[in-house]
Amino acid sequence: MQGTNSERKHFIELRPGIYQIYNIKPGSHVYLLKGTDKNVLIDSGIVSNYPVLKEYLSQIGLRPEDINLMILTHEHMDHAGAAGFFSKSAIIAAHRNAANKIELQDEFVTLQGVQEWRAGSIKVDLWLEDGNYIDIGNYQLLVIHTPGHSSGCICLYEPSQRALFSGDTVFSGGTLSNIGPSGNISDYMHSIRHLNTLRIDELYPGHGKISKEPEKDMNKALQYAMSLFEDSKLLFQALAARKQAPP
Ligand SMILES: [Fe+2]
Repeated sequence: MQGTNSERKHFIELRPGIYQIYNIKPGSHVYLLKGTDKNVLIDSGIVSNYPVLKEYLSQIGLRPEDINLMILTHEHMDHAGAAGFFSKSAIIAAHRNAANKIELQDEFVTLQGVQEWRAGSIKVDLWLEDGNYIDIGNYQLLVIHTPGHSSGCICLYEPSQRALFSGDTVFSGGTLSNIGPSGNISDYMHSIRHLNTLRIDELYPGHGKISKEPEKDMNKALQYAMSLFEDSKLLFQALAARKQAPP
């Protein structure tokens, strides 16, 4: 763990060679896995944070060109905005539902409409599917498609560490992710139930604190999601009743 000029710690080594680089708001956290074969970044953060990301990588002993693979947890530009800076040396990978939107620069679903999130063209080299397995030597990552927050969300599971990189799908404390323009609550509930079948010791989210109680937090998220689902049903029933009511 190291400090910066302001004495604030901006990254932490979670496991040997696995780092969390804290988000500079409104960007996401970035995770680095220094593999014996390949170096991987999970998410890039916002485009304007690239200079500081580069600086923190340098403090860890890496240059941007030492990154071999950049995996994007989903298409939102607070996670994917700086990915283009790595495209000359690294393979950029995302779920196919996210890759399509990123490549088309679909402003509505990638949230590029926010001025400071606007990232321009990003080419996704590798379109991922649920069940893909990535071997970087000392660590492996299983790709799990977890639609809900958006249709292109993935989580990455490292089985030897029982660690889950959860993007915006699950947060510490069970805080419910918002349901983005391409997401839906039913898929979200299914994704949480699916994740809860895994043995997870630590959960590394895209924002906020690390969770050391993943099962408890996922159950909370599921409860919140179910109550939101029920509220939505009531809302639509009320709207339908209003439509049918005589003037
Ligand atoms: Fe997101």
